Amino acid sequence: MRAHEAGALHAEGYGGPPLYLPYPQDVNELLTPLWPQSIARTPDGTLQVAGVDVVDIAREFGTPAYVMDEDDFRARARAFRDEFAAPFQQVCGGADIYYAGKAFLCTEVARWVADEGLSLDVSTGGELAVAQRAGFPGERIALHGNNKSTAEIEQALTYGVGRIVVDSLDEIDRIAAVATRLDVVAPVMVRVTVGVEAHTHEFIATAHEDQKFGLSLATGAAAEAAQRVLRHADTMHLLGLHSHIGSQIFDTGGFEVAARRLIGLHAEIEAEHGITLAHLGLGGGFGIAYTSEHTPLPPAELGEQLAAVVEREFAGLGDRTAATPRVSVEPGRAIAGPSTFTLYEVGTVKPVVVNDRVTRAYISVDGGMSDNIRPALYEADYSCTLASRRSDADPMLSRVVGKHCESGDIVVLDEYLPADVRAGDLIAVPGTGAYCRSLSSQYNHTPRPPVVAVRDGQARLIVRRETIEDLLALDVG
Ligand code: LLP
Repeated sequence: MRAHEAGALHAEGYGGPPLYLPYPQDVNELLTPLWPQSIARTPDGTLQVAGVDVVDIAREFGTPAYVMDEDDFRARARAFRDEFAAPFQQVCGGADIYYAGKAFLCTEVARWVADEGLSLDVSTGGELAVAQRAGFPGERIALHGNNKSTAEIEQALTYGVGRIVVDSLDEIDRIAAVATRLDVVAPVMVRVTVGVEAHTHEFIATAHEDQKFGLSLATGAAAEAAQRVLRHADTMHLLGLHSHIGSQIFDTGGFEVAARRLIGLHAEIEAEHGITLAHLGLGGGFGIAYTSEHTPLPPAELGEQLAAVVEREFAGLGDRTAATPRVSVEPGRAIAGPSTFTLYEVGTVKPVVVNDRVTRAYISVDGGMSDNIRPALYEADYSCTLASRRSDADPMLSRVVGKHCESGDIVVLDEYLPADVRAGDLIAVPGTGAYCRSLSSQYNHTPRPPVVAVRDGQARLIVRRETIEDLLALDVG
C-alpha cells in the first residue's frame, strides 16, 4: 500500500535512528520484555535460553533457526487461562482461551496448548489436520475462515469440533448440507462485523465495514445470519456471536465498543427468538512488544478490563432473565510471539554512507524475508542483539538485512549493534514466535528454518529444517 516497488525505504530520504531507539549505554544489554523469560547472557557474553547456549544451538541445528522456549510459551498460555478465569468467574462463570494457531502451530505446540487446558482456534483444514495429528480434543477446537470449503466443513464436523464460526450466508447453507449428510448437529457462532476499527474509538469507527470478514451488524446481515442458523434447527445449534477487531492492539477501547455492539445484538436475538445464547466470542489481537516503542498490557489487566466491560454492558441492558454468556478470547501473538527468537549467522557487513550525518552498517544474515515477511509486509519493527559473544566496541547504527533479491528484504530496520560485528557472529531477533514461521515462504528457493524447542537445558527439534530435496520433490517436471 505504502511501499515503493523497489522496497519500503526507497527514495524516502530516511536518516538516523527512530525516536524509540536511544543510543545505548551498553550495547550488550538485553531489553528483557522482548525475550523469553529465561533469556540470559553467560559470563563470556553468549546468549543463553532455558539454560542452552545459542552457539550450541547453531552448531547442532544450523542457522537460521527459530528458537522457542517451551516454558515461556506454556507460562503465557497459563497466564491467559488463569488471569481471565478469575475476573470472568463472577461475570459469566469463567472464560475460555482459544490459542490462535495461525500465529504458529505444529503438533508439539498443539500438545502444549492441550496440556495447559486451553482451547484451539484453527482457520483452515491444514491447521485442523495438525490439531488432529496432535490428538487435540475436538470439542475444544473452533474453526474460523471466511471461505471454508465443503471439505473443510466436513473434516471439522467429522472430527467433532466444538464450534464453527460462520462468516457468510453462503456458508450457513453449506454447513447445513454437510451436517445433514453426516447426520450431526453443527455448533456454530456468527462472526459479526461490528464496525470498529482497531486502535480507534467509536466516532471514527466505520472504516472496518469495508473488509472481507464477518457479517455486518449495521446492515442487518448478522441478524439475518443468526435467523438463518435458527431456521436450520435440525442441523445447527447457535452458540452465540463472535467478533474479532484486529491484531497488535494495545488498548481495550476498541474491545469495549465492539463488546457493547455485540452484546446489544446478542440481547436482541435472544429477545426476538425467545432463546438463550450461551457464548460470546471477543476474538484475539492483544499486542506484544517488538521494540521499546510498545508497552502491552499484561493478561491480568486485560482480563480485568474486559470482564468489567462485559459486566457493565450486560448490566446496562436492564432486567434480564437469561444468563450472561460465557466469554471466549483468542490470543495468538501474545502467547507465541515473545517465546521465540530467530538465530541468524552474519555473512557480510557493509558500511553505507546515508548522508553527511549518518553512516549505517548493513549486516546481511543467512535468512530474511522468507523467514520473517513482517517488516516487508507491515513495515514491522524488530530489534536484535549480538548473540554469540559480548563486545566492547562502540554501538553502531545498523540495519539487519536478509539474503533475498529485494532491497525491502529487511529483518531489523534500525538497531544499535557493536561496531565490530563480523562474518560468523550470531545475531538473535526476539519476538518472532508469531506470524513468522507461519507466514514463511521458500522465496528464492530457500528452505525454511527449523523450530528448535528449548527447555531445562535441552534443545530439540519440533519442526525440522526444510531441505533442497524437499523443494525439489514438489517439482514433478
Ligand atoms: N481470532 C481471529 C478470528 C483472528 O483472525 C486472529 C488473527 C486471531 C484470533 C489472533 O490474533 P492475535 O492475537 O494473534 O493478534 N499476520 C498478521 C496478523 C494477522 C492476524 C490474523 N488474525 C501479523 O503478522 O501481524
